[in-house]
Amino acid sequence: MFRSIAQVSATTNIRVVVVGSGPAGFYTAAALLASDLEVEVDMIERLPTPWGLVRLGVAPDHPNIKSVSRAFEKTALNPGFRFFGNVEVGRDVQHDELMQLYDAVVYSVGAQTDRALGIPGEDLPGSWPATAFVAWYNGHPDFQDLSFDLSAERAVVIGNGNVALDVARMLALTPEELAPTDTTEAAIEAINASGVHEILVVGRRGPVQAAWTPVEVGELGELAATDVIVDPADLELDPGSEAELAAAAPTVRRNVDHLREYASRQPTGKPRAIRLRFFSSPVALLGDEKVEAIELVRNNLVDGRAVATDERDTIDCGIVFRSVGYQGVPLPGVPFDKHSRTIPNERGRVEPGLYAAGWIKRGPSGVIGTNKKDATETVALLLEDARLGKLPPRGQGTLEELLAARCVEAVLYAGWESIDRAERAAGEPRGRPRVKLGSWESLLEAARAK
Ligand SMILES: Cc1cc2nc3c(=O)[nH]c(=O)nc-3n(C[C@H](O)[C@H](O)[C@H](O)COP(=O)(O)OP(=O)(O)OC[C@H]3O[C@@H](n4cnc5c(N)ncnc54)[C@H](O)[C@@H]3O)c2cc1C
Ligand SMILES: NC(=O)c1ccc[n+]([C@@H]2O[C@H](COP(=O)([O-])OP(=O)(O)OC[C@H]3O[C@@H](n4cnc5c(N)ncnc54)[C@H](OP(=O)(O)O)[C@@H]3O)[C@@H](O)[C@H]2O)c1
Repeated sequence: MFRSIAQVSATTNIRVVVVGSGPAGFYTAAALLASDLEVEVDMIERLPTPWGLVRLGVAPDHPNIKSVSRAFEKTALNPGFRFFGNVEVGRDVQHDELMQLYDAVVYSVGAQTDRALGIPGEDLPGSWPATAFVAWYNGHPDFQDLSFDLSAERAVVIGNGNVALDVARMLALTPEELAPTDTTEAAIEAINASGVHEILVVGRRGPVQAAWTPVEVGELGELAATDVIVDPADLELDPGSEAELAAAAPTVRRNVDHLREYASRQPTGKPRAIRLRFFSSPVALLGDEKVEAIELVRNNLVDGRAVATDERDTIDCGIVFRSVGYQGVPLPGVPFDKHSRTIPNERGRVEPGLYAAGWIKRGPSGVIGTNKKDATETVALLLEDARLGKLPPRGQGTLEELLAARCVEAVLYAGWESIDRAERAAGEPRGRPRVKLGSWESLLEAARAK
């Protein structure tokens, strides 16, 4: 049963719930609140804190990028917006209940887990998904019990994306570089005490095909105590890569320029080195009780794909970070495509009344700003459905009533502001932007102090 067009006039309140408070969720909320229809937006977030990967993914030594949250704060203060943190869809409230309570549901839950390599030894102690390391050093409350053994001489990072570079760079920062960041205390201590001298970053294809971006490659060369080592032979491009480079975006050419400059450098004897190795895939992680070495196979590029040769190499290492991408996880009752690991959708519309935005809509790629255009596209379809009276009717009741009946302690926006104040106050005397509260209890306690 659809509502008629007459029912959706400019004065009708449309109630939309956005699930997930990362960039996609906030850009969705902002676009909805800017509409000429009267829209109320409730945002549900499983953590007591908003901003998704801006708080818990973006590297702590990139404070300028994290400051995009100031734009999200403005959206949160709009009178039509409410935040319900510490509420998890699938646990505290179900999808069909949201469909009943709201005119439209938008999922912007991101990509919550890592992609596996599928090689022997991947589960040995000492083999970690980058997702876990990133969440740990950023203070995600689900990851604070982890302990990373950084005592080995060599760490290996698999993957040639920006997350791989974040991981490599974080491992290479000096105490002085870490001190003014909001990296957790435990991570600062572990990295300061680390015995790692070489961080080997392994790409299965070549310098032209790497997924990282120029600013991120360029800043490797500015690290205080780390040399960057690139084998000049890896920059002797085959005809296919030459042609690809000639036709590539300027960003790819800038990447290669940085790598050429590194290849021409003489190591200066800094205490650490990041070594970028290309055309190599991991075949196995080796070790009896923990990772002791990695076996790599040399690849040739065939039509842009990495094809293994029979040339193999075993390299000692004590810790491996698999940084080959994130992937979405299904939510109970919500359509899910097992291959793309996304919610199947057409430009953000799953069906009238149900929408997706951000990484769960298009997969785990793109920078923060990419999610703005993406969310705007989704919202345009939602508003079109609203105008045409296609949204399914909503039932009685409110989210607050449902949460209260289940004794779910939602952290409202004022609760987050209280957490924010506590963290900033703890950081201030130490010259740090904040000291993050790392446990669920401490976050909830700070939220209650509002
Ligand atoms: C390690 C890392 C570093 C990055 N650094 C940068 C950078 O420096 N610059 C840049 O431009 N881009 C960066 N990006 C990319 C950027 O973070 C993403 O493009 C963006 O965060 C994706 O937005 P999203 O809203 O789809 O997902 P997310 O940011 O992941 O937000 C999803 C939110 O949904 C919540 N959620 C999940 N499941 C549920 C549920 N069941 N119920 C309620 N809530 C739920 C999550 O807790 C989370 O808060 C980085 C990405 C990563 C992984
Ligand atoms: N500072 C920033 O702006 C910043 C920081 C972090 C993240 N981000 C963004 O967040 C998004 C996610 O980043 P990401 O690094 O997780 O993903 P990504 O950019 O997709 O990179 C994944 C890397 O893993 C490699 N890979 C995939 N499967 C592999 C396998 N089986 N074996 C070996 N290598 C494999 C890929 O190689 P192939 O190309 O060969 O598949 C690629 O190099 C990106 O859009 C990124 O730009 C931005």
